[in-house]
Amino acid sequence: MSDKQQSIIGAGVPRIDGPDKLSGRANYAADNLPPNLAYGYGVFSTVASGKVSQLSVDEARNMPGVIDIFHHGHFPTLYHTPSSLAQGNKVEETRLPFEDERVYYEGQFVALVVADTFENARAAARRVKVTYSADKAVANLEQGLEANGTRAGSGNHERGDAASAFDSAATTIDVTYRTPVETHNPMEMHASTAWWDNGDLTIFDASQGVVVAKGALSKIFAMPPERITVHAPYIGSGFGSKLWTWPHAIATAAASRELRRPVQLVVPRQQMFTTTGHRPETRQRLRLATDDNGKLVSLRHESINTTSFTDQYVETCGSVTKSLYSCPNLTVSHETTQVNRGTPTSMRAPGAAPGLFALESAIDEMADAAGVDPVQFRLDNYAERDESKDLDFSSNHIVEATKRAAERFGWADRNPKIGSMREGREIVGYGMAACNWEALKMACDARVSIRADGTAFASCATQDIGTGTYTIVAQTVSDVTGIPIDRITVKLGDSSYPDGPVSGGSWATATTLPAIAGAARNALDEMKRYATGSNGAFAGVSGEELEVANGGLRNADGRQVSFAEILEAGRYGSADGEAHTEAADSKYSYRSFGAHFVEVRWDPGISHLRVARVVSAIDVGKVINETTARNQVEGAVVMGIGMGLFEATEYDERNARPVNNDYAEYVVPVHADQPEIDVILLDYPDLAFNEYGARGIGEIGVTGLAAAVANAVHHATGKRIRELPITLDKLMDDVPQARSA
Ligand code: MOS
Repeated sequence: MSDKQQSIIGAGVPRIDGPDKLSGRANYAADNLPPNLAYGYGVFSTVASGKVSQLSVDEARNMPGVIDIFHHGHFPTLYHTPSSLAQGNKVEETRLPFEDERVYYEGQFVALVVADTFENARAAARRVKVTYSADKAVANLEQGLEANGTRAGSGNHERGDAASAFDSAATTIDVTYRTPVETHNPMEMHASTAWWDNGDLTIFDASQGVVVAKGALSKIFAMPPERITVHAPYIGSGFGSKLWTWPHAIATAAASRELRRPVQLVVPRQQMFTTTGHRPETRQRLRLATDDNGKLVSLRHESINTTSFTDQYVETCGSVTKSLYSCPNLTVSHETTQVNRGTPTSMRAPGAAPGLFALESAIDEMADAAGVDPVQFRLDNYAERDESKDLDFSSNHIVEATKRAAERFGWADRNPKIGSMREGREIVGYGMAACNWEALKMACDARVSIRADGTAFASCATQDIGTGTYTIVAQTVSDVTGIPIDRITVKLGDSSYPDGPVSGGSWATATTLPAIAGAARNALDEMKRYATGSNGAFAGVSGEELEVANGGLRNADGRQVSFAEILEAGRYGSADGEAHTEAADSKYSYRSFGAHFVEVRWDPGISHLRVARVVSAIDVGKVINETTARNQVEGAVVMGIGMGLFEATEYDERNARPVNNDYAEYVVPVHADQPEIDVILLDYPDLAFNEYGARGIGEIGVTGLAAAVANAVHHATGKRIRELPITLDKLMDDVPQARSA
């Protein structure tokens, strides 16, 4: 391999799927319009708890174009899935659509109208008459605790004796933080287009995991997985909401089978707030203590999150707390409480995003109490090894990340006195926080072919959810084979390709690339066998003697023959390779690290708050594509600003109905809210983790950001906001505080 070829790993190669996306050729789930397509539209519960007492379809049935109306009394029998990720059949809402007459949350499917057009289906759906016997709904976390108490969650950890260390410590804090429900708002709507052909199911679904979707549907329809194909060639992002199969996809496939024609269903934006998951509400109590030297001696992180009445989803807020700081006495616990909301799910950096808001705010409060600069406090307390697993980190550059970001940001210029830094009418606040995410790597299969026309083809049943997976797969094939990027075709998002991972947990890169590289090497070995065969271009030469050069093979004497000529000589159409790679071992604790520094500007005259500047230094191992990696962190920073300042799905505390479930009233950052973002990528390959040393970069950027904002707000205003989002009313004096749900 020449230096030029090696440098393709890490290069800012433009997205190979860019032209298809920009030209509209990219095919999303709802873009599939097979002949004879019928359209589904949901009827959604208008109460959050109770029972459908009567459902009348007479009027709707006579509306133009209506084909059928499904509901509890008229729906085929389906089967439960064990919902196991290990078995590859996980769903998040385990209740089957229309399984009973119960209503567990507002916006739950209670009927499905199928008609000849989308408009006719929607019009008829509005004529389905549903009466409910409503029960008193449990509307929020506090009501859940009162009505149902808590259930033990998972991911707990205990070492030492946190309680007695706290009681005898020099300095302590005991603080409680709250985070609201946040809702994923991918641009692409959740949608499914399904059809059956001789008992085989084909479904285009907005899915971050086609293989697991196939496994789940195989359980639900009680049919062999090989008779199901799930397609998701393009996804307009998902942020976790598209990890697992939701009721609408199941209902669409079932309706299509009943009606013997293709059916498409798009989940309306308002129901994307109810029936396709959300980040749950959390309440987190942090108790920290330091000794006289400002060293942490006790740390307790107790978290409760809301879940649905049908499923237990645990938001593991303490996941990072176990290992980020060195502390001999530590407790992490998770509990859940049931409320009348749909089942929550992973939302970008699940657990860590709300967890690090609390932890990294508390660390700031602790530093304050101990009288130590917050950067210094962290440097003094960062763990050198994973004390929760009693393992070394495979690679950890958090100290360097913190110092480099501090320097780039200009932390040394910070006057620690509250509200002391002014510019014109504005008060400037500086805050920072650490960020952290577990690095994961799953088992993976992949296939690569080198073809007679000099092109290469790679396939894997993972997905590109908008993050650049197509491009980094092409980079990997190019790296191994020397074939230029523009001659490489990559196919993803089809469950009939070799089994690939869910695009989630920031694990797709570390999981997929080694399998692709292995498959490419195996294809080269096949090529060498062809070349050295009796009629081959290098007949009689040993395969070991051959090396890859300029789109072909070269022997020790420098004679070079192109792949095309080698294949032609042996009359082979292609040289193919497959590979299987295993999940990560547990020799080390594999994690990614970083630090965010944030400048906020607070104008007390007009109560205006904005994030002006962010510097983030991120240590995710080897960066595979400089451009897409930077883009991931920038996007995550913006998402963190949304979490810090704006995002909250509000529920009416009287009836548990979401009240701002649309793009107009669920506030997300817009262009005017964008700060200057400066991303430092440390780029230290983590070769204990995989051959490329990449740990994945999707989620880490959102962790810690909201805490850095809150810490900067405290520096500017003196107000310690412990409940997200940091809305202006919380910063204004003499404004009565409405407690949000
Ligand atoms: Mo991510 S929340 O694993 O899509």
